[in-house]
Amino acid sequence: MADLTTQFLDLPVKNPVMNAAGVWCSVASQLEALAESAAGAMVTKSCTLQPRDGNPEPRYRVLDGDKPFGSINSMGLPNEGFAYYLRYAQRHDYEEKPLFVSLSGLTLDDNLTMIDSLKDAVTPAILEVNLSCPNVPGKSQIGYDFESMDTLLAEVSSGYQRPFGVKLPPYFDMAHFDEAAEILNRYPLVAFVTCINSIGNALVIDLASETTLIKPKDGFGGLGGDYVLPTALANVNAFYRRCPNKTIIGCGGIKSGREAFMHILAGATLVQIGTSLYEEGPGIFQRVLDELSAIMDEKGYATTEEFRGKLKTL
Ligand code: FUM
Repeated sequence: MADLTTQFLDLPVKNPVMNAAGVWCSVASQLEALAESAAGAMVTKSCTLQPRDGNPEPRYRVLDGDKPFGSINSMGLPNEGFAYYLRYAQRHDYEEKPLFVSLSGLTLDDNLTMIDSLKDAVTPAILEVNLSCPNVPGKSQIGYDFESMDTLLAEVSSGYQRPFGVKLPPYFDMAHFDEAAEILNRYPLVAFVTCINSIGNALVIDLASETTLIKPKDGFGGLGGDYVLPTALANVNAFYRRCPNKTIIGCGGIKSGREAFMHILAGATLVQIGTSLYEEGPGIFQRVLDELSAIMDEKGYATTEEFRGKLKTL
């Protein structure tokens, strides 16, 4: 029987499967459900310094009427505010599973203020800075502005002075993989990189009514699910190859053990589930783990270590 225990940075983790930030992690009852679920780790909704209502509804739609399966969203960072997630982080049971706290400040100063408080609170929570929310009107993704990304990483490194991670947007060009990786590699405290956030600013149209599926931003929103799997795998593998001293978390298109296996093969240490968790609920973790375990047994792998990053090329 496959052993799914994993080491993340220097932490033992029961298994490599967790939620994607934004899904099932906005309020305490959801976080408690994740804590009780089979997930090996969990992350809080990306938060801002102050609570936010987010964008007008409808702002999330599942795309399941036809194949492929996916979602489009323009949530706009609805969240309870940093203090709420910090309170949860202070009472989380870290013996049970690691907790990541995701920050998505609207300004660099807001990020630094939250990071200072997180540091002072001295919880074992792991900091992830979200550089890739595509859905706040008028705000571009820091991960696509390499100068701002460099500045932010320098400021967070000197302010936090502990290992942390970043959630990146998808990149689509080898030159951008190179440039982003070169910047990340300047900062040894950037211990992990989560690839990818949704593919931003997609447009899904309902043929019958000739309308957009979601309301904010004239229907433009982040794409998830089957549509993004190949892009997610490419980004995981691109950063795995270019950032040998950093740990990669894979996110995008995972709905079964198959895609979880592919992300690990591409180089991921942990894998996150977004759209499928939204649709299926926290019961999905046990299903994906059982499927991943069955694939490993069939292939003769006893641990994820044995195939992590071992993608073969032709
Ligand atoms: O709109 C949102 O709240 C999404 C955030 C994200 O994709 O990081």
